[in-house]
Formats: sequence, structure tokens, C-alpha cells
Amino acid sequence: MTRIFPLLLATTTLLLATSSTAQSNREHPSTGLHSLFVAAGKLYFGTATETNNLDDPTYQNILSNPLEFGQQTPENSQKWGLIQPNPGDFAFNNSDLITDLSKSYNHLLRCHTLTWHSQLPPFVSASSWTPDTLRQLLTTHITAVVSHFGSACYAWDVVNEALNENGTLRSSVFLDVLGEEYIALSFNIAAGAAPPETKLYYNDFNLETSPQKQTAAVELVKSLQAQGVKIDGVGLQAHFTVGQTPSLESLTATLRRFTDLGVDVAWTELDVAHEDVENSSELAVEQQAEDYVAAVRACIEVERCVGVTVWQFTDKYSWVPGTFPGKGDACLWTADYQRKSAYWAVKGFLEGWVARMNMTGALVGGNGTGIKTVTGSKGTFVGVTSGTGRLVGSVSVGLISSCVWLALKMI
Ligand code: G3I
Repeated sequence: MTRIFPLLLATTTLLLATSSTAQSNREHPSTGLHSLFVAAGKLYFGTATETNNLDDPTYQNILSNPLEFGQQTPENSQKWGLIQPNPGDFAFNNSDLITDLSKSYNHLLRCHTLTWHSQLPPFVSASSWTPDTLRQLLTTHITAVVSHFGSACYAWDVVNEALNENGTLRSSVFLDVLGEEYIALSFNIAAGAAPPETKLYYNDFNLETSPQKQTAAVELVKSLQAQGVKIDGVGLQAHFTVGQTPSLESLTATLRRFTDLGVDVAWTELDVAHEDVENSSELAVEQQAEDYVAAVRACIEVERCVGVTVWQFTDKYSWVPGTFPGKGDACLWTADYQRKSAYWAVKGFLEGWVARMNMTGALVGGNGTGIKTVTGSKGTFVGVTSGTGRLVGSVSVGLISSCVWLALKMI
């Protein structure tokens, strides 16, 4: 017993140190979702926002907290119907307000979106186009919009929701007149107008849950790459329903199918809605927390997943109940700005992850079960990693050598 006492003491001290770091100080937080996500090696934790949220001081107070958010996406104001409602009539005022806001809060701006079948003005959706006139229209629109925002956009969702659930291409004015060529064309026009560092994304929903759609998106990326088109990333919207969110394993496998093609990925519109808000149980609240954690963790475990954007952070402005009556409560904050269990679960998970990283150095990412030695800010550690490259357990080299030294002394 005396021989193993030093080992037990040291291990207990190590564990206590970790758990105290991991505890949330809810009164005076020194960390938040964004700061922890960055500490875990990611680029941003962000949110959709819009100009109708500007005169809400409580909302702005949270949005501007650099610990919580480091990125924003305009929820509507860059869409075609709002930004060019009539031919040649560009209305940048609202989207400029969001751009200015992102700059003043020091947030990255994901720009959304250029070629989409929805929220089109009647002059686009209801006119008769020839392939030539529609090509010209796309060129004018995308060039004007992308040039206007220039380097303010970290990324553009160039083409949005081009696929049906069964993997075929969705009917739209663009597909119906130009065929599949409209997708490559949109990317090429955007690439010609954007600064070279701007990331160009294909963005869609249900890529996480619909196998045929997922495969079609993989093929789409391959086809664009084979044509020499610049595509830097795939945005997976991640509009989930409580209890129907794919497992962590499934989510990481989905992200990896795309990163294996050499592109970045991001959860671009994450929310997890209760199917029936009126009748949702305490259990469903905990399930929502688990679903959020699975999504956030999947992004951490996949090296080229750059960040997470929630599609509004408060139920007050969530799109869900307006589109799906009865469904909702999908966000991390309630409508009166209380942090939900899901918020605390995501934060607690991130705190634990970052605390372990600080002990062991950057073990996140990569594949393969094995034993790895890593030097981090707190010394050199030997860690055991799982098949996904995730750290399962670790012990410091200093601790091992002290134990060996003590054991030898006692023999
Ligand atoms: O601007 C008009 C306003 O003038 C009018 O008074 C009001 C009356 O309802 O409607 C306003 O337009 C609404 C628009 O949002 C701006 O607020 C539309 O009705 C409403 O349908 C529209 O909903 C947006 C939806 O896209 C449109 O498809 C949601 O806010 C927005 O969250 C949602 O976002 C999409 C992503 O862009 C793509 N992925 C799916 C996601 C959720 O549907």
C-alpha cells in the first residue's frame, strides 16, 4: 500500500486539478462557447443574426460577448430577393449594417447566399430566360454582390440547396434553363469576383441524415474539382430534431466523407428543435443537450471542420416555429435569454475537452488507436487515443518517472 500511495496521491491531485478547471463559474464566466472552441483548435463559434435584432439590447449584449461568439451569418439580408429585388436595383443597406456589426464585434462573417432557388424576386423566378440571358443575369448578380462585400466575407455560400432528398438536382429556374452547368458557373463567377482568400462553399441541409443526398453532394464536389472549379468547403446546415440527431459516430463519418475530398466543412445553421414543444418532457430537454454536444464534438474531432454557426442563438428569433408550427425551442438560449441545459452541456463538454488538451497538448484530430507522447503546456504526457484519434486517457511522464523512481528506491 505504501508503495502505491504516491501514485494514488499524484493521480488524485491531477484529477482534482482537471475537474476544478472544468467547472463553470456561472456568475463570472471567464470562458464561453467561442473562446473554448478556439482553445480546442477551431476557428469560430458563431450565430445567424439579422437587422431586426439590432434594437434588442439584451440580444446585442450576448452577441457582442467575445467569449460566446466569434462569427456571424446574415440570416436573410444577403439573399437575392432582398439584395437585388428589381433588375439592377441593389439594396445593400441592411446587409451593410450586418457587415459593420461583424466588424465592430470583431466577428468573422460567413456570407449567405448567392445562387438559391428560394427567396428569389419575381423578376428572376417568373421571367422567361434563355441560357444566355440567365448566364448574364447570374454573372451580373454574383459579381456585383461579391465585389461589394469583398474581403469582409470570410466565406460565401455560393450555391445553396441544389439537391433533392433522393440525390437528384432540385428543379429551379437555374437548373431548368441552364442544367447542371449553373453550379460550376456560379462558383466560377464568385471566384472571379472574390479576393483569393475567400472560402467558397456548397451549402445544404439533410446531408447528415439522407444517405442519397450525402452521396450526391460528395459527387457534386468531385465533379466541380474535376472541372478545376474552386470549391473550398461544404456547409452542412445541421437543422436537427431532438432525439433524431445522428450519433457522434455518424456525424464524424459524414464530415470526413467531405474532408477526405480535401475541402473544409462547417456546421453552418445548427439548431435542434423539439418536435412538439407543448408536450416536450424533461427527458427531451436532456436529449437536446446531448444532441448539441454530439454536433459540437463531431466538429472538434474532424480536423478540417472549421467552425459551428447556430441559426440564431435565442428562441426569440428562431425560424423554426414560423415554418413548422408546434415545433421549436431549438436554440441554446430561451426566448427570454436564459441559457438552457443544452448551452451548459456544450460549455461543460468544451471545458473538459480543453482542460484535457492543456494537460496533454494537441492530441485532437488524426486517426488511429494508439499510444502517443505529446508535449503540452503542462509537460510531457503519454496518452491513449481511440480509433477516431480522440484522447481516452493520459498520464504525465513526470508522474510515471517519479513512480518508477520511488518504486526502485523502495525495492
Ligand atoms: O421581409 C418580409 C417582411 O417584409 C414581411 O413583413 C414578413 C411577413 O411575414 O416577411 C418577411 O420575410 C420573411 C423573411 O424570412 C425575412 O424575415 C419571410 O416571410 C420568411 O419566410 C423568411 O424566412 C427565412 C427563410 O430562410 C426563408 O426561406 C428565415 O428567416 C431564415 O431563417 C431561413 O433561413 C434558411 C437558410 O437561409 C437556408 N437554410 C434553411 C434556413 C431555414 O429555413
